[in-house]
Amino acid sequence: FSLKPFNTFGVEANAKYFVEVNSVEELIETLKPSNSQALPLLFLGGGSNILFTKDFEGLAIKLNLKGISEEFLNDNEVLVTSKAGENWHEFVMYCLSKNYGGLENLSLIPGNVGTSPMQNIGAYGTEIKDHFVSCKVLNLQTLEVETFDLEKCRFGYRDSIFKQEGKNQYVILEVSFTLTTQNHTIKTEYGAIQSELENLNITNPTIQDVSKAVINIRQSKLPDPKKIGNAGSFFKNPTIPLAQFEDLKLKFENIQGYPNGNFVKVPAGWLIEQCGWKGKQIENVASHQLQSLVIINATGNATGKEIFDFSTLIIDSVKEKFGIELEREVNIL
Ligand code: EPU
Repeated sequence: FSLKPFNTFGVEANAKYFVEVNSVEELIETLKPSNSQALPLLFLGGGSNILFTKDFEGLAIKLNLKGISEEFLNDNEVLVTSKAGENWHEFVMYCLSKNYGGLENLSLIPGNVGTSPMQNIGAYGTEIKDHFVSCKVLNLQTLEVETFDLEKCRFGYRDSIFKQEGKNQYVILEVSFTLTTQNHTIKTEYGAIQSELENLNITNPTIQDVSKAVINIRQSKLPDPKKIGNAGSFFKNPTIPLAQFEDLKLKFENIQGYPNGNFVKVPAGWLIEQCGWKGKQIENVASHQLQSLVIINATGNATGKEIFDFSTLIIDSVKEKFGIELEREVNIL
């Protein structure tokens, strides 16, 4: 069964078995030992953060759980719950159409609602943890539904319990957020949003304006996975000790960094560009010409292995020039 339609890199890989589930009951039924026969399992969401480097000798399960519900909490807050299989951007657009504020800075992020807690998706000054209340998950051992609140999810930068000790143990079924209904907090600290709002001649932005600005920024520098295969940022921005950053600053005076206590987060895109990778193509794979942190399936014919090998070359050259080891953000299978 071809997994090509289920990964935004658009690489070819096959799963031995495939099933699509439309409800929690169907999912539990599928996972009963008599049905799943102890096969290795692969859960498919939006496919926007995965790279297949080989065929999958198990059961791939496409999660199609759909539906959005709302509960008004007070004059200014609504609890919005979305099932895992809703497309993230469509969910954000739905919230904005109802004038629910909070997620507008996260417009146009690829993937589904159900995968958003995995890596605590974040962009332009917002992370989902800022509005997250809880998620319901299926425990794969017990086949019981459990609720994880904010604390239990242990969100960090591009990180959560689901990437750490909870890895491969839970399936996220639905996610709840608290959003505002009237007094919205407009977040425009991110420089690029401010300049885009200026371009649009907007001085007193609404949440819908912020979304529009974010969409414009993303469209201007990030490749649309429907046209060019990619999975957004391929690497995390590395965090290094302040002392190491100061040493690097002596050698590379233009190096940028966002200090955080005794550590500094350095933009991986800048490091990669300095190593000469921006826009560079090797056979079917390239680093995007407008954002070098994004690796693209440039010809549409790349294999997962080729993309993986390309990313290894980038890691090696950044390590050699800056002594910093980049970590892949995309899950490799
Ligand atoms: N930069 C370069 N060269 C490049 C790319 C970036 O010099 O090729 C420099 C920029 O000039 C800028 C700095 O690096 O000064 C940061 O760039 P940008 O604002 O584009 O953000 P980023 O740190 O590269 C992160 C997220 C993105 C998210 C943006 C906006 C990670 C790994 N990536 O990128 O997330 O959209 O911030 O908030 O944290 C994604 O996860 O798929 C993704 C696109």
